[in-house]
Amino acid sequence: MSLKTQIIPNKVPQHVAIIMDGNGRWAQQQGELRIFGHTNGVESVRSAITASVEIGVEFLTLYAFSTENWNRPKEEIDALMNLLVQSITQELDSMNEQGVKLETIGDIDNLPKSCQLALKDAIDKTKKNDKLTLILALSYSSRWEITNAITKIALQIEENKLSSNEINEDLISSYLSTSSFPDPELLIRTSGENRISNFLMWQLAYTELFFTDILWPDFDKECFYKAIIDFQKRERRFGKTTEQLK
Ligand code: FPP
Repeated sequence: MSLKTQIIPNKVPQHVAIIMDGNGRWAQQQGELRIFGHTNGVESVRSAITASVEIGVEFLTLYAFSTENWNRPKEEIDALMNLLVQSITQELDSMNEQGVKLETIGDIDNLPKSCQLALKDAIDKTKKNDKLTLILALSYSSRWEITNAITKIALQIEENKLSSNEINEDLISSYLSTSSFPDPELLIRTSGENRISNFLMWQLAYTELFFTDILWPDFDKECFYKAIIDFQKRERRFGKTTEQLK
């Protein structure tokens, strides 16, 4: 029986973020090139989207390409960008059928033009959907995002449009690329690596972390449900005591 039946409907996290890791190792285990892992990782992306829609997750953020990933061999970067364009184009109908709205965070201007166009088109064609917001983090890193936010705040102060005593957590959040989304309640990272890797460092302050050894291309719907069930068993105290929560 599917683990889905064990999920408590009114305790589903509103926002799940995923560091999809292990594509390269998965491919190498089969004696294939790294891109074979990325190509197979697309099926796991589909599963995570469908599972999110089915159980009522409202926001799903996927770390698809980090600022640091630009340092990979050119062939891998080109192949990843092509895969992205191909996947977005092919999945458009399915996203619309499932009520998925596409958004991005990251330095999108830095992506190849073909990628920017495919994203712009898909964002436009899915903008009325309201079941799940799928946020692709592309050419994204937290330090890039926070540096940008500080620069923008400093400029506002220089131009006397903002005063330093107006700076608070809400103001900083409003300058981040995630300003229109709630913070994730659950972060999943696959492949046995236990780190955050420059991903949503501000937004993850109170997020529950779930690490699994499963490599991303093997991460199916049941794996996703398992992470949700684990999340639902946790006590989120936000600095308070257990007694205060009662
Ligand atoms: C990390 O595995 C994965 C990536 C850098 C890319 C993720 C891309 C996809 C899943 C496919 C396309 C995505 C979308 C949203 C359609 P890795 O290469 O770092 O694996 P390794 O740690 O085993 O080398």
